[in-house]
Amino acid sequence: MNDQPRTPRTAAHEIERYGALFAQRTRVMKSSAMRDLMALTARDDIISFSGGLPDTSTFAPGFFTELMGRVAADSVARALQYGPTEGLSDVRDVIATVMAAEGMTVDPDAILPTSGGQQALDLVCKILIDPGDVIIAEAPTSPGAVPTFCSYEADVIQIPMDRDGMRIDRLREALARLDREGRRPKFIYTIPNFHNPAGVTLSLERRRELLRIAGERELLVLEDNPYGLLRYEGEPIPSLFSLDGDFVLYAGTFSKILSPGVRIGWLVAPPPVLRQLVLGKGSADLCSSSVSQFFIAEYFRSGPWMDYVRSLSELYRRRRDAMLDALAEHFPREASWTHPAGGLFLWATMPDYIDTTDLLARAIEERVAFVPGRAAFVDGRGGSSMRLNFSGVGEEEIREGIRRLGEVIREQVALYGTLTGRDGAPGAGRVASEPGPADSGPGGSGPGGSRPGGSGLPGGSDPVEGDADGAAPEGPLDNVRHLTRKRAG
Ligand SMILES: Cc1ncc(COP(=O)(O)O)c(C=O)c1O
Repeated sequence: MNDQPRTPRTAAHEIERYGALFAQRTRVMKSSAMRDLMALTARDDIISFSGGLPDTSTFAPGFFTELMGRVAADSVARALQYGPTEGLSDVRDVIATVMAAEGMTVDPDAILPTSGGQQALDLVCKILIDPGDVIIAEAPTSPGAVPTFCSYEADVIQIPMDRDGMRIDRLREALARLDREGRRPKFIYTIPNFHNPAGVTLSLERRRELLRIAGERELLVLEDNPYGLLRYEGEPIPSLFSLDGDFVLYAGTFSKILSPGVRIGWLVAPPPVLRQLVLGKGSADLCSSSVSQFFIAEYFRSGPWMDYVRSLSELYRRRRDAMLDALAEHFPREASWTHPAGGLFLWATMPDYIDTTDLLARAIEERVAFVPGRAAFVDGRGGSSMRLNFSGVGEEEIREGIRRLGEVIREQVALYGTLTGRDGAPGAGRVASEPGPADSGPGGSGPGGSRPGGSGLPGGSDPVEGDADGAAPEGPLDNVRHLTRKRAG
């Protein structure tokens, strides 16, 4: 089966023919970086760190057959039929069980199953965002959320992060600035656990502070938590939802703990918000797949689902460690990266004369791929960073892929040194403003750690200043701008 994403080739005269018909919002719609890079993930000859892919090959085929056999025997007519927009009650009960495993108590009637976590984001925007409305998000934010926010024409304000997640001091500053402009954000979007793409986790203290601010200002917080159960070290931190449900909309998904192919996620919201979400979903797709919902209900009935989550966690922990070791061995000393305590991603930052969008073309020549950091920003920042996924490929491939990538980066650092007569080291590049923890050298053991001298986040602890401060290099470097361009502009 040919499953490569297709982008139809469109001649200029054809674009002209349809151009006048398109809605205004199509001008700001972006292609998802993940969709574009999915074609690379599907290519056998490329080691891809670009997708957010769980390893679905670990699900036993015989078990799948058995579950679907039971769905066929017991419920074929209903599984092949439309279902209620509000989702099957068995699935809402299952979702309550999954949330309970993370310490959350939820009324199944407050849950709306969605077509993936992606639709959860889309629906929240659909019911809350008018063009120009403000969404506050982290910097970087999920590359999958960026096109959604853009397509609703939101004004996204991204708040810098450090190893403890979103910086609350910078959030307060942003809110004060918005107050002066007479603007009120529609919601604050956060991925508190094992952030996609930053790999860091919002500390308990900051969770409390964030909720205090939300409570004082009556602001909604959208807590997006696809990765909370995939923890490889340390103790779980209570979710925002469990600390204070009043202002929190909660989004979850089965994608990372079972299968993204079933395309089932969910939202939890207070009744008035839920009503609007149900209307929004009805007009989008009537209902989520009944086949998938029956499969999920059967799977959770069949036994110890947490055993599978634990086996995934063990597998991904080994892959994370393989990647951290390989980074320490093969990446140049000018690079830094985060040390995720769970989830699927880490975030690596290069000296700021390296542009990772350009670097990707060179990396693909060497048959390795990643997500360039710009995909995680609405405004072109993140140009020196990259997201690396460690769950989708085996340890051997991780080591080989990072070796290839390290070579490509070293080549750029050396080129910069040759052309400028300077060392490609910090000073020439970005100097991280916040060092990693003292006990976590390359591949160190502390969560949120990184190579000494960098938090791994863009610009150290502050991507805004990190990107804005450095002057564009001049002279010989202009000749290789296509390879080592500092910023896209
Ligand atoms: C933070 C975040 N939210 C939402 C999603 C979308 O999840 P789904 O695959 O269930 O649509 C992802 C997927 O990677 C994600 O990382």
